[in-house]
Order: sequence, then structure tokens, then C-alpha cells
Amino acid sequence: MNDADAQRVGAALSGLGFCGRAEPEEADLIVLITCVVRQSAEDKTIGRLESLKGLKRRHPSTMVAVMGCLVADPATLRERFPWVDGFFRPSDVDGLVDLVRQRFAPETAPALPAERTPVSVSIPISMGCDHHCTYCIVRLRRGSQQSRPAGEILRETREAVQRGAREIVLLGQNVDAYGHDLPSQGLNLAGLLSQVHDTDGLLRLRFLTSHPGEMTEELISAVAGLSRVCPHLELPVQCGDDVVLRRMGRGYTREQYSSLLSRIRQRVPGCSIATDIIVGFPTETREQFEATADLVTAERFDSVHIAKYSPRPGTPAALLADDVPQDEKERRHRILEELQTRISQEINSTYMGRTVEVLVEGRHRGRWRGRSATNKLVFFDHDADWMGELASVEINWAGPWSLRGTVKG
Ligand code: 5AD
Ligand code: SF4
Repeated sequence: MNDADAQRVGAALSGLGFCGRAEPEEADLIVLITCVVRQSAEDKTIGRLESLKGLKRRHPSTMVAVMGCLVADPATLRERFPWVDGFFRPSDVDGLVDLVRQRFAPETAPALPAERTPVSVSIPISMGCDHHCTYCIVRLRRGSQQSRPAGEILRETREAVQRGAREIVLLGQNVDAYGHDLPSQGLNLAGLLSQVHDTDGLLRLRFLTSHPGEMTEELISAVAGLSRVCPHLELPVQCGDDVVLRRMGRGYTREQYSSLLSRIRQRVPGCSIATDIIVGFPTETREQFEATADLVTAERFDSVHIAKYSPRPGTPAALLADDVPQDEKERRHRILEELQTRISQEINSTYMGRTVEVLVEGRHRGRWRGRSATNKLVFFDHDADWMGELASVEINWAGPWSLRGTVKG
């Protein structure tokens, strides 16, 4: 979501004549797009804001704007960080652009040619979330779900593809519930996917994040049946123990999650699955953690994002004692990391000798970098310009986090 906000802010600002700078000291405008999903992310943001105080003293004319989930109560933030020129709620690109226009209007340069459109463009389809996961601050900051009308999403898709995008990623906190709050539109995520799918020139379509309690058979059929929709799902499980899942307010059991995965794998053979897990949720015992480790072993996810539980102010879970000691959280985190590294390595090794279609997104350390439809990061060497192209790459090296290969002629 923040990447997508950053893309949109960047595009709007280059329309006003701004261009990017590597050093904050050289900038006329600094925009921080903030995350507070865990305390560590919030601490990083606060650290950055503190360090900008000195910069602002040295360069008083530099404008500093803060956007994103840190912004719950602008008045309090203004008091605490008086050197910040404006605070904007998550995805409030228009609010930010208005202030920038006011501030820079007299000297605004003619619009620059937009920077090259990324090969993969993310488009938010809904903001906020109607679930009540007890650990989650996101819904407190982003509010209840507000789906965007399909017409807007389709127009943005067409424009992005016309400017050179080849992949569209439809984004939301819980995309599976897309449209539930727009009953008159009568379109769910499966319907939206099939409309976006037909955009001329689009090569790939992805969507995230899904909710295991809301992934319908119709949606699985859409993934199976629409050729440009990638066989890759982001399906956070969070935990493998039913008691903890209930305390987290997730609304499904481990059994229901596993049965969903097997239906997906039946209908979409080779579908890659990424998940999120929280270790050390309040009251999580060693046995309950073992259930999560068992689930990871049994389900063989392609990737797992593991987080140590962090109490967030205002969430129901923050009222519970944060009773799993930090070193035990770290131990559980390490165990899952090691387990998943082994599994990812095993899965990636099965790619050896296979040829995969890679959508090339850029260069990295002298190599081309792109992704397989299953979202594997693939690197290869080649002299031609592959930017935005689909390359057939024969894999000859596999690590847990990426693959390498050579282009087939
Ligand atoms: N503590 C730790 N991890 C969290 N996440 C969300 N809230 C918390 C929290 N309070 C994780 C979840 C979610 C991901 C985006 O961040 O795993 O899926
Ligand atoms: Fe937060 Fe749960 Fe909504 Fe995800 S589904 S944004 S974890 S409340």
C-alpha cells in the first residue's frame, strides 16, 4: 500500500515539475510515507522525523510532509513535530498535492515528462478493512472498507498500460471483500479481475492481500480461468493454532485454512502461496507455536513473512499482557525462519533446468531482474534490452530467495 502511495505521490509531483533527489539535503520537498504496523516501524518513522528537525533548521524553506498510518490525529502530531508542514492520512495523495501546489505555486515549473512508468504498477482497489483482527492497528488508521468504483480502477489500468506498464497489482487490505460496500455496483473481486484482465496490452494481473475467510470458489475459478492472472496468492494465516486464531479474531480454523489451500492447489496447479505469521501473540504457548511450525512444514508455503508480535495502542490485543518474553519471540521467529529457508530452497530447487517466463522489471547489479508468474525473483545476464519484456529463462541456479538462469534463444 505504501509503495503504491509512493508511486502515486511521485507521479503527481512530477506532474507539478518536481524530480527525484538522492539526498534529502538537496530536496525542496520531503515526503515521508509511514507505517506503524509494528512498534519497530513506528520507531523508525519517529527517528526519521527527529532527524529531519535539524535539516529543517538548516534549510527552513524545505517542505516536509508526512503521510500514511502514523497520521491518526494530525493536531497532536503537529504539536509533537512542529517542523513538519503537513500531515496526511493514508493514501491522501490529493491533500498532499493541494498543499504542495499552494506552497510552490508561484514557482511551479512546467510539468516534466513523467519518469518511466514502472513495468509493474499497483492500483489500490479498496481502502481500509472491515475485519477486527485484535492485533491490527491498520483498520484503526485506515478506517472501514471503502471500495473504489470499478470505472476508476479500469481507467487507471488503461492509462498505466498505455504509459508502458505490463503488470497490474490490485491492492487492498482485504481485496477478497472488494465491492461488498458498493452493493449497487454489483461487482466482486472475481468480476473486477475479469474486467481488468481484458485490458489491451496487459500481460499480467495480480492482487493482494486475500483473507482466508473470504476467498470464494468463484475467485479461485477466476484465478484458474483467467490466463493473465498469475498463479500466486498472498494468503496470511497468522497462526496454526485454533485457540490463538480465535484470540486473534481471524474467523477461521487451521483446518479450514488447510482445506482452502488444498482446493486452491487442486484448481490452480502449481499456485504459489505466500503467507504472514505472527509469533508470540499474548498467551501463545510453546505447544501452540509448535502447531504453527507444523503448519509451515505441512503446507510448504513459497514464502512466509514472519513477525514478532508487537502490541499496538488502541487494539484489543494491547489490553492483554504481552507475556511471551522477547527472547522467546526471537527464538520462535528464528525457528520459523530456518524452517522456511529450507522449504523455500527445496521448492526453488525444483525450478532447476525448467524454463520460466520472466517479466523483466529492471536491472540489478549488472543483471536483468524480473519475476516468474509464481512471483519468484529471477536474475539473468543478457546484452539486449529486456525492460518490460517477457523472457524465457532456463533456470540454472536456485537459492531460497531467488533464481538465476539464461535466456533461451
Ligand atoms: N504485531 C506483529 N505483527 C503484526 N502484523 C500486523 N499487526 C501486527 C502486530 N501488532 C503483521 C501481520 C500482517 C502483516 C502485514 O503484519 O502478519 O499480516
Ligand atoms: Fe488488519 Fe485483519 Fe484487516 Fe488484515 S484483515 S488489515 S490484519 S484487521
